[in-house]
Amino acid sequence: MKVADFVERYAVNRKNTDSIKWDAMESGFGSNDLVPMWIADAEFKVPEAVTNALKKRIEHGVYGYSLTPSSYYDAYCKWQEERYGTELSQEWIRFGSGVVQSISTLVNVLTLPEDAVMVLEPVYHPFMHVIEENDRRLVVSNLINDGKQYKMDFDDIREKIQTNQVKLLLNCSPHNPVGRVWSNEELEQLLEICREEKVLVISDEIHHDLVIGNNKFVSAISVNDGLYRDNVVMLDAASKTFNLAALQCSHVVIANPQIRARYDRFVNKLHLPAGNLLAQVAAQAAYQEGGDWLDGLLGLIKYNFNYLKNEFAIKAPDIEVTDLEGTYLAWVDMRKVVEPSKLRNFMEKKVKVAVNYGEIFGEAGLGFIRLNLATTPENVERTVVALLEALEN
Ligand SMILES: Cc1ncc(COP(=O)(O)O)c(C=O)c1O
Repeated sequence: MKVADFVERYAVNRKNTDSIKWDAMESGFGSNDLVPMWIADAEFKVPEAVTNALKKRIEHGVYGYSLTPSSYYDAYCKWQEERYGTELSQEWIRFGSGVVQSISTLVNVLTLPEDAVMVLEPVYHPFMHVIEENDRRLVVSNLINDGKQYKMDFDDIREKIQTNQVKLLLNCSPHNPVGRVWSNEELEQLLEICREEKVLVISDEIHHDLVIGNNKFVSAISVNDGLYRDNVVMLDAASKTFNLAALQCSHVVIANPQIRARYDRFVNKLHLPAGNLLAQVAAQAAYQEGGDWLDGLLGLIKYNFNYLKNEFAIKAPDIEVTDLEGTYLAWVDMRKVVEPSKLRNFMEKKVKVAVNYGEIFGEAGLGFIRLNLATTPENVERTVVALLEALEN
């Protein structure tokens, strides 16, 4: 599908629809009158098949206690296998009300208070919040930024695991905010260190459908034909891919039967949410019939990213845009053009665009901004033009 066709068919005005991205900028940015390029959801209607499936379920008119039908598992497993070669077994799959809720639950299942948990910064900020809110010790290994791309610092990871007796690593794959789709070799090296050092891994793969570059996405549970699977819990959801975040449903994939039993005991004890009828109706339809829609979205993200990258390269080469292999989030280094302490004022008062500021993802993010490209080319252009104009003035 051409970018213009995707936009014409699916773009929608979300202002005054109780959207956090559009209608809740006042509290974080001082005004609702900014171009919203922050929180990670999209300005596009879901595939028609999703709306039709939801309508059909709603017309039935009953929302009594429901089970997850085998057709759901079939659709999800087929999607994983056909698009990524990830082979799943139905018995490994559990449901949460969101990936962050699932991470928090797993931190409780897999570690004790005061245990050390590692993240690779800069990284999606709730990782750090969850660790600290649950009274675990946060251990940070910084990714290495070679100017174009970020890499894992394997020596530092091993050294800090040993020094701090790390018990659990939270990995983001593909990586928000630095846009990497980790290669098979990188994941293998990371997972091997964790196996040797007896560190369990949570692999947050919520962005795995959003691959823009040439790297093939590999799930942590299928690296080396599943060699590390027993040491990993994989999390994902249909929500980021298909714009379903408010329906609140995540997959918790646990191949290791002992870990699964511990997880089940914990979830049962707290009677935690384990799935949502309408979310599953929507996700099943998306997995069954949303492939073309997703390909259209990926084309649009690529288009938006190339525009952003080329415009800055030509007109403001000191703004450094990190290559985007995956996610729809551009990671932009503003340090050569605006002093980090003045960046917030610059973006909100001069450019008038709402972004995520890099330091929320860890100290290494200071002076960067994260821009959400799952929006119309028009909004990306407004952002780029306003930024260039503000720099000129
Ligand atoms: C890496 C990552 N994990 C989790 C989430 C949020 O997932 P959920 O809304 O299911 O908690 C996001 C949202 O941006 C994300 O980028």
